[in-house]
Amino acid sequence: MSKVAVVFWSGTGNTEAMANAVVEGIKGAGAEAEIVALSDFTYQKIDEYDAIAFGCPSMGAEQLEDSEFEPMFTAIESKLAGKKIALFGSYGWGDGEWMRNWNDQCINDGAQMACDFVICNNTPDEAALSECKALGAALA
Ligand SMILES: Cc1cc2nc3c(=O)[nH]c(=O)nc-3n(C[C@H](O)[C@H](O)[C@H](O)COP(=O)(O)O)c2cc1C
Repeated sequence: MSKVAVVFWSGTGNTEAMANAVVEGIKGAGAEAEIVALSDFTYQKIDEYDAIAFGCPSMGAEQLEDSEFEPMFTAIESKLAGKKIALFGSYGWGDGEWMRNWNDQCINDGAQMACDFVICNNTPDEAALSECKALGAALA
């Protein structure tokens, strides 16, 4: 059975709701899903997973959250080459620029994108949650 890590940051719960739907999608597709705390997701830990879902809302000015998520991501980034991953996150007033930049960054790192990223405006609606489930299934 493949093992998929779900690694996310969420300040007000929107990206967390997306993450829970991603977990549902992974399990529904018959794989093992594990939500891993940011502080536990280290460079060494990546080898334990067949695939990884990363979630982070748009923060700063179209940036990743910079106190916990970005330091974690920077630390593991050099190990993403060839790794199956997918990205998701919520945003507020922007147009999704943070996610387009992040997605380009992962492609440059050589990551294997399992599917298109999923973004939603503030709280995920039913359509966004079902896209998150599909994202989870694509990683399974
Ligand atoms: C400090 C801060 C910076 C933000 N910067 C942006 C931004 O640049 N672009 C944007 O679209 N939304 C921005 N937002 C809105 C959040 O992305 C949005 O509220 C999102 O739903 C939060 O997700 P969360 O509930 O998972 O924390 C910002 C919110 C905060 C608190």
